[in-house]
Amino acid sequence: MPATREVGVNGLGFRDGVEARVEPRDVQMIPTLSDRVVNVASVPQRSPLRYPGGKTWLVPEIRKWLAGLSFRPEVFVEPFAGGGVASLTAVMDCYADRAALCEKDPDVSNLWRCMINDAERLALRVESFVPTPENVGAVFSGAGVSGVEGAFRTLLRNRVNRGGIMAVGASVMRQGENGNGISSRWYAETLASRIRAIGECAGRLDFFQGDGVNLVELCRDNRSAAFFIDPPYTAAGKRAGRRLYTYNEIDHEDLFERMSRVAGAFMMTYDESPDIIEMARRRGFHLAKVPMKNTHHAVMYELLITSHELSPRSGLDVSG
Ligand SMILES: C[S@@+](CC[C@H](N)C(=O)[O-])C[C@H]1O[C@@H](n2cnc3c(N)ncnc32)[C@H](O)[C@@H]1O
Repeated sequence: MPATREVGVNGLGFRDGVEARVEPRDVQMIPTLSDRVVNVASVPQRSPLRYPGGKTWLVPEIRKWLAGLSFRPEVFVEPFAGGGVASLTAVMDCYADRAALCEKDPDVSNLWRCMINDAERLALRVESFVPTPENVGAVFSGAGVSGVEGAFRTLLRNRVNRGGIMAVGASVMRQGENGNGISSRWYAETLASRIRAIGECAGRLDFFQGDGVNLVELCRDNRSAAFFIDPPYTAAGKRAGRRLYTYNEIDHEDLFERMSRVAGAFMMTYDESPDIIEMARRRGFHLAKVPMKNTHHAVMYELLITSHELSPRSGLDVSG
């Protein structure tokens, strides 16, 4: 039996250096927070990106988590931003004073910088675009990632590619789908108003381009920080992240170790996997799961790993 050392972090006691093994019965013991899948139509859509692995469906749980914390976060930290749904919710619904977001992908980063610093120009570009196949082709043939035009290209690619996937190899959705083709994914007015709403919050959004673990380190000692961690997950046979994101290699063990040292609160979200459950249990993190529908409409469970225990509450914000 390996040595056990008790270490206290975040008011948690956890055991360090223990070779924990996850038995099937442990998996079953993880509490389920609700028995019904969230109807995303009931959630305000704040991001103009329809992000693969996006967490709009998790917004009701994120809100309950933030509302249930013993402190009001001064900063909401989202090191793997993607579409940034969680940060936008935290700031726009006033659960936190401000948000700090980080993203490694340069195209997505440029889009975030433009939405924050140049929202009106980007919104006007969106409103003036006529989404014919020829016009889409002309935008895609442009080069470079910087400025409003680069941001516009990233947004357009996200809207018209299958599944919102922007990584190399993603295909454009079938033209003429439902008789509408590309225009069925291009709601200019809606997208422009979401971009303007982000621009209005610019003073409360800090965006960083780079490795999200550096943002975790930067905010590590801040007791008033709430971290939302939604990294790409490619381990243990879950290969989808490779296809979905250009940047997808994360050292999850290292990330868990860093999260065990943060002074604030955190919520991490992962596919339900024995390896992840084991990493969380070994550090004394709290586990819960919530139902969600995958792209094939099958019900699956997402793991929520938190610094503070989440209590199961059913019947809130959910519908079939
Ligand atoms: C699962 S997605 C996040 C989705 C987001 N929660 C949402 O609701 O839209 C993970 C994101 O992390 C980004 N990423 C990958 N490696 C990263 C790293 N080392 N640092 C920061 N971002 C990274 C990917 O490009 C991708 O946008």
